[in-house]
Amino acid sequence: MKKNINSGMAIFPTPNLLVSCRGKNGKNNALAVGFACNVSANPPMVMIGIVPDHYSYELIKESGEFAINIPTKGFEQAFYYLGTKSGRDEDKFVALNLKWTEGSKVKAPLLDDCPISAECKVIKLIETGGDHNFFLGSVEAVHCDEAWLDENGNLDFSKIATL
Ligand SMILES: Cc1cc2nc3c(=O)[nH]c(=O)nc-3n(C[C@H](O)[C@H](O)[C@H](O)COP(=O)(O)O)c2cc1C
Repeated sequence: MKKNINSGMAIFPTPNLLVSCRGKNGKNNALAVGFACNVSANPPMVMIGIVPDHYSYELIKESGEFAINIPTKGFEQAFYYLGTKSGRDEDKFVALNLKWTEGSKVKAPLLDDCPISAECKVIKLIETGGDHNFFLGSVEAVHCDEAWLDENGNLDFSKIATL
C-alpha cells in the first residue's frame, strides 16, 4: 500500500551532476545539480534547473554557456562541497584545487575528474514561477574518458559508477 508523502519532487532518483560555468570576470564556478534532464536527442538538448539566487545562475545567464559534468565514485567530497558552498563567497575551484580543461565549443571549464562532460549553449531561459528556473541548452559536444567506452566507442553503462 502506497502512502502520501510530503515531497517537493515527483521523479526519483535525481541525477548527481556538476554544472560548471564562467562569469564575465573570467572566474570558474561549479555547483551540484539534481534537477536536470535530456529533452531532445536530435538535435541534442538538455535542461538544468537552477535557483535564481545561486551564483551560477547569474554566471550562466550572463555567459549563455555551461558544461555538465558527471561525477563518479570517489568524488563525493568535492561534489558535496560544490553543492553546499557558494562561488559568491569563495573560489571553489581554488579551494578544491580542481583540475579542468577549457571547453572546445563554449567558454566553460570541463572538470578533469569527471569522466563525462558535455558543453552546452543556452537556447532559452524558462521562468517556471517555482523555486528553480530552467536553462534549455543545446549540447555542442560530449567528451568521455576512453575507459568508459565499449569497443565500438559507445558509452558502456556497466562501467560507469555514478554517484
Ligand atoms: C545533491 C544536490 C543537488 C542539488 N541540486 C540543485 C539543483 O538542481 N539546482 C540548484 O540550483 N541547486 C542545487 N543544489 C544546491 C547547489 O548546488 C548549492 O546551493 C550551491 O552551493 C550553489 O552554488 P553557487 O552559489 O556557487 O552557484 C544541489 C545540492 C546538492 C547537494
